[in-house]
Parts: sequence; structure tokens; C-alpha cells
Amino acid sequence: MEPEKLEGKLVSISKTVMTEMIMPNDTNPMGNLMGGYLMRWMDIACAICAARHCESLVATASVDHISFHEPIRLGDVITLTAQVTRAFTTSVEIFVEVSAADITGANPRQSNHAYFTFVALDKSSGKPIKVPAVIPITNEEKKQFEVASRRRELRLILAGKLKPEEAMELRNFFTEFK
Ligand SMILES: CC(C)(COP(=O)(O)OP(=O)(O)OC[C@H]1O[C@@H](n2cnc3c(N)ncnc32)[C@H](O)[C@@H]1OP(=O)(O)O)[C@@H](O)C(=O)NCCC(=O)NCCS
Repeated sequence: MEPEKLEGKLVSISKTVMTEMIMPNDTNPMGNLMGGYLMRWMDIACAICAARHCESLVATASVDHISFHEPIRLGDVITLTAQVTRAFTTSVEIFVEVSAADITGANPRQSNHAYFTFVALDKSSGKPIKVPAVIPITNEEKKQFEVASRRRELRLILAGKLKPEEAMELRNFFTEFK
């Protein structure tokens, strides 16, 4: 019998892990990692993850709120882990987590996280193209998948691309608590 064809792709297929050591050029005058450098690495890790999932070129469409909980020091080693949470029509949402530790692995700590949205683009026309669905397996993947549509509506409202009254997922969510 022919094996059943999957309609989408597993999260693990495109999971991207990136490691960097903080060098003097990456720091501010206090010897801490510059926020902008961290955002650049987050964008790169997420872009690789999105491109692996979509098997196409991708462009960053938006980045949700990023806050920096703890300073990352010169000589620390950071690990960025990017995973796709959900695919929509031509866009994918990627979740990235950043952790920091001493070079020996001692003093490990979570630094920050963010959600990025990428749009898959056709190589020749540069126009948005359809993306493969995501198949969530673990409980955490399923939770991320479920809430992704609400996060999407919220960011499209903030970008002025969706009218609040058209945000059905958010409306259903809030009416549950009435
Ligand atoms: C992102 C981009 C391709 C969207 O193009 P567009 O003509 O607005 O396309 P559409 O309105 O058809 O939207 C395409 C997808 O992008 C999503 N999108 C558009 N703006 C978005 C935003 N601000 N946040 C999240 N998603 C967004 C839409 O929801 C849609 O996704 P879907 O098909 O899965 O529903 C276009 O704005 C662009 O090229 N921006 C520059 C990207 C770039 O250069 N990034 C690097 C930073 S310099």
C-alpha cells in the first residue's frame, strides 16, 4: 500500500539552532550585547527556519514585541532556537527563543523570545506564494499552533491591515470569557 501523503511539514524539519559568542564588537560601552545585534541574529535564525519550511525565498513581514530581560555579557555564548508555529496562506509565524550562558555552559539563562512573520516569495516574480501547512505534534507545538491565529489577527490590526471588527478569532476568544 502507498504510504499516506502528509499535507504539511513537521516543526522539527525546519527547526534552526544558531550559536554565537559575544565579541567586543558586539557590545555597548557597558560591555553588554547591543540589542540591535541580537535582533539581527534573531532575524537570521528565523529567516533560515522559515525558508526551510517554505522551501523558498522569504521576507520578514513583521516582528512582534521584543523585550530584553537580562543583559548578555562580553564572552557569553548565546543560543537561538527558531521553530515554525503555524503557516497561513503565504506567510509563516516563527517563534525564536534566546538563551545565554558562560562559554563553559555554566550560568544558563533565558534571555528573550519573539515571534517573527515571514512571507514566502516566488524567486522570479518576487510575489507571495503559498506555503506548506505545519503539523504540530507535541503539546507545546499544538499550543503555539492554536494561539498563532489570534497573534496574527492582533499584529495585522496593529499594522492597519485588518479591521478590528473582522478579527473573528480574537472576538471568539474574548466572548468565551463573557
Ligand atoms: C511582506 C510583503 C511581501 C507583503 O506584501 P503585501 O503586498 O502586503 O502582500 P499581502 O497583503 O498579499 O500579504 C501577504 C502576506 O503577508 C502578510 N502580511 C502582510 N503584512 C503583514 C504584517 N505587517 N505582519 C504580518 N503579516 C503581514 C499577510 O497577512 C499575508 O499573509 P497570508 O497570505 O498568510 O494571509 C511586502 O510588504 C514586502 O515585501 N515588505 C518588505 C519585506 C522586507 O523587505 N523585509 C525585510 C526588512 S527590510
